[in-house]
Amino acid sequence: MQRHLISAADLTRDDAVLILDTAEEMARVADRPIKKLPTLRGRTIVNLFFEDSTRTRISFEAAEKRLSADVINFTAKGSSVSKGESLKDTAQTLEAMGVDAVVIRHGASGAPYRLATSGWIDAAVINAGDGTHQHPTQALLDAFTMRRRLVGRDAGLGQDLSGKRITVVGDVLHSRVARSNVDLLHTLGAEVTLVAPPTLVPVGVETWPCEVSYDLDSTLPKSDAVMMLRVQRERMNAAFFPTEREYSRRYGLDGDRMAKMPEHAIVMHPGPMVRGMEITAEVADSERCTVVEQVANGVSIRMAVLYLLLGGNEPAVTHARTNEEK
Ligand code: NCD
Repeated sequence: MQRHLISAADLTRDDAVLILDTAEEMARVADRPIKKLPTLRGRTIVNLFFEDSTRTRISFEAAEKRLSADVINFTAKGSSVSKGESLKDTAQTLEAMGVDAVVIRHGASGAPYRLATSGWIDAAVINAGDGTHQHPTQALLDAFTMRRRLVGRDAGLGQDLSGKRITVVGDVLHSRVARSNVDLLHTLGAEVTLVAPPTLVPVGVETWPCEVSYDLDSTLPKSDAVMMLRVQRERMNAAFFPTEREYSRRYGLDGDRMAKMPEHAIVMHPGPMVRGMEITAEVADSERCTVVEQVANGVSIRMAVLYLLLGGNEPAVTHARTNEEK
């Protein structure tokens, strides 16, 4: 494993499987009455959020606290300082305080990379979403959810997602979740198909390790998981489709469409969902939709990442010895 986690593309298959397996260990902690491990006691982690977040911020904070780290939250919304300067100034302040890791979300693609390679700071840098670029822990928690549901919780240990067919639907152009998922799922052996209106498919997509389709209905029967993306209006400066109704009609997932998926197939969404736009309430609330499970899995994945980047050689979870071992 590298010292930072900037991009899902930096992970090898073995790195990714190690993170998923470690997250299974961490998930067991969540089943205990006391959900805490002493692993990162005395370590300081800063959550540096320059962009809005609900799930990712809360989930990192929960993960850090479950590992007993000292947590500092910094929300920099509305800063008028230019991005490069404010990032450097902030980094130097954090360095002066002696932080061990920085979890950063930033509107500018490349900000976490800059922080990790600038020499401004000595801490491990974890990308919690940068612009339209990457969101590696989201891809990891998605892969974790797929492995549990499509391979099995115990059966999945040590396994990747070879041969699984994953369809990612919606605003691929503005989605760091889509980019991170394509990279990681490819590394894990899955076959990815992107489905979007032509206006929301990025230039250069032919170099990505995936297929592209404009027809959702023909792709659904061949999918083991269908991941719906939010239309990211805050990143749009033009009209990418005629109307919301037209978008939903062609690219939204409703009950009739869901019925075209194989029986075992799951519906995923990174959140926040816009009910009535990319997904109907019927689908969002159905048994097959893993959106809440993805949030819970996010805590286990982030514990695993923090442990592997900061925890050194100590075992993550010490089990009570079984009778056979005694
Ligand atoms: C996504 C994000 O912020 O990249 N959400 C998340 O982290 N769970 C996707 C989105 O905002 O639509």
